Amino acid sequence: MKLFNRWRKKNDDNNLSKSEFIDNRKHSKPTIEEKLGLFADIFGYEDIKEIFDMTIKANRPVHVLLVGPPASAKSLFMSSLTKLERSYYAIGSSSTKSGIFDYLFEHRPRYFIIDEIEKMNKRDQTSLLNLMESGVLSELKHRQHRTTQLKTWVFASANSIDNILPPLLTRFTAIHLKPYTEEEFIKIAVEILERQEGIDREIAVLIAEAVFNKLKSANIRECIRIARLARDNLSEIQKVIDTFLKYSDSSSNNSML
Ligand SMILES: Nc1ncnc2c1ncn2[C@@H]1O[C@H](COP(=O)(O)OP(=O)(O)O)[C@@H](O)[C@H]1O
Ligand SMILES: [Mg+2]
Repeated sequence: MKLFNRWRKKNDDNNLSKSEFIDNRKHSKPTIEEKLGLFADIFGYEDIKEIFDMTIKANRPVHVLLVGPPASAKSLFMSSLTKLERSYYAIGSSSTKSGIFDYLFEHRPRYFIIDEIEKMNKRDQTSLLNLMESGVLSELKHRQHRTTQLKTWVFASANSIDNILPPLLTRFTAIHLKPYTEEEFIKIAVEILERQEGIDREIAVLIAEAVFNKLKSANIRECIRIARLARDNLSEIQKVIDTFLKYSDSSSNNSML
């Protein structure tokens, strides 16, 4: 019973601090994201942006992995995070001969951002293991032992988790992005075509609908390509889409990507 009371007390305290916390946040300074405009180029995903914001504000490292189909804004998230001070960006496929160890040891980044981590070789993935767990970076090479302590957040993206070492995977909070629905796809594609490519809204809608429904693709890059080729000329748009359709890879059954 005493224990229960203590638990209640503790819980009440928690509730109090929770409401204070909410209040504080209401009057608090802008979030890191608002201040730096970290994710200004990314449409939607407000909940994920919030998780990143909380992660960046945390006192101790929390590692985040975005997993999802191509063209779901993973690289865009990774490049946005490079706006953070003391961040270092790496592409998994371009691991150097000397490996990431030397870099981490020398530059001591606060944020280590890895796009397409599934392409990172096993040796580099192993270097990350201890770093992510305990912040300890340690190596035995040519009978020499090098060790250092780092406080590094790791943010990574992957198209699939197949080639990621299982123990490495468990050190991440994995966020699995779902393919865009037709509604989401058209909304995002239209925004991009209008803002970044200067295409009229009605034409942008036509392109986005044709890409999703005719080309059976949910790749926003496809919309951008068509817009760049045909601009706002309707018959040119039609011609480009028909040609793309005629020569599309009919053997591929994942054309929605
Ligand atoms: N939610 C989004 N907001 C803004 N642009 C997006 C969004 N989703 C996709 N895109 C656009 O689609 C293209 C592919 O995005 P990218 O981040 O390279 O995808 P991924 O790394 O998941 O393959 C880019 O041109 C990007 O601008
Ligand atoms: Mg990418």
